[in-house]
Amino acid sequence: MQKITIAIDGFSSTGKSTLAKQLAKALGYIYVDTGAMYRAIALFAMRNRFVGVENENVAALIKLLPNAKLKFVFNEQLGFAEMYLNGENIEKEIRRIEVSNQVSRVATIEEVRHKLVDMQKEMGKDKGIVMDGRDIGTVVFPDAELKIFMTASPETRAYRRYKELLDKGDKVSYEEVLKNIQNRDYVDSHREFSPLKRAEDAIEFDNSDMGMEEQFDRIYNHSLRVI
Ligand code: C5P
Repeated sequence: MQKITIAIDGFSSTGKSTLAKQLAKALGYIYVDTGAMYRAIALFAMRNRFVGVENENVAALIKLLPNAKLKFVFNEQLGFAEMYLNGENIEKEIRRIEVSNQVSRVATIEEVRHKLVDMQKEMGKDKGIVMDGRDIGTVVFPDAELKIFMTASPETRAYRRYKELLDKGDKVSYEEVLKNIQNRDYVDSHREFSPLKRAEDAIEFDNSDMGMEEQFDRIYNHSLRVI
């Protein structure tokens, strides 16, 4: 069977990564969560006090970018790859709301995008990959054989994310999560370099009223027709 590239883009907390993981598993493909890469750089910038402080220093972040060594390491038990920054497992830390509040700002920086897009292209050069993010179908793999664009109402997404964070023990309010999502939607869609937008040839899925299982079945069956 020939291998293809599957690009999944869309707004924050639309269930992109859940769908991408399920698809990759069913097809025996590699799964790459590009949001984790932007989150890792955001964490690097926060730890060095380049962002999230009164006098942010983007020039210093750009200068030190080569020092941020990112790596995905597959965790057999979990069944997916975890994000490492300079040898440290940062998977849990990058999901925290503090990082979510900085990541979209960091993702507007052209040099950050170049570094990560180059890595993503390299990871997908042999196809057989499901990658999720904001610019996968438009910038990273414009020739992907299957492109999916996921949406859902901000309230639906905020509620799902709020429940997830509570389950993990994070003390957040629904209002804080909704505000973060609306903020990221705005910054992601209005930035100068590779803004979030649906690729013309992407299939759009609004899953506000659709269960994850039904969504997976529909997209998996569609992918088999493309392959
Ligand atoms: O997918 P996730 O919500 O973890 O992504 C976190 C943030 O990283 C997004 O809100 C966006 O600002 C940025 N991002 C991006 N391009 C991607 C993936 C994520 O700009 N391909």
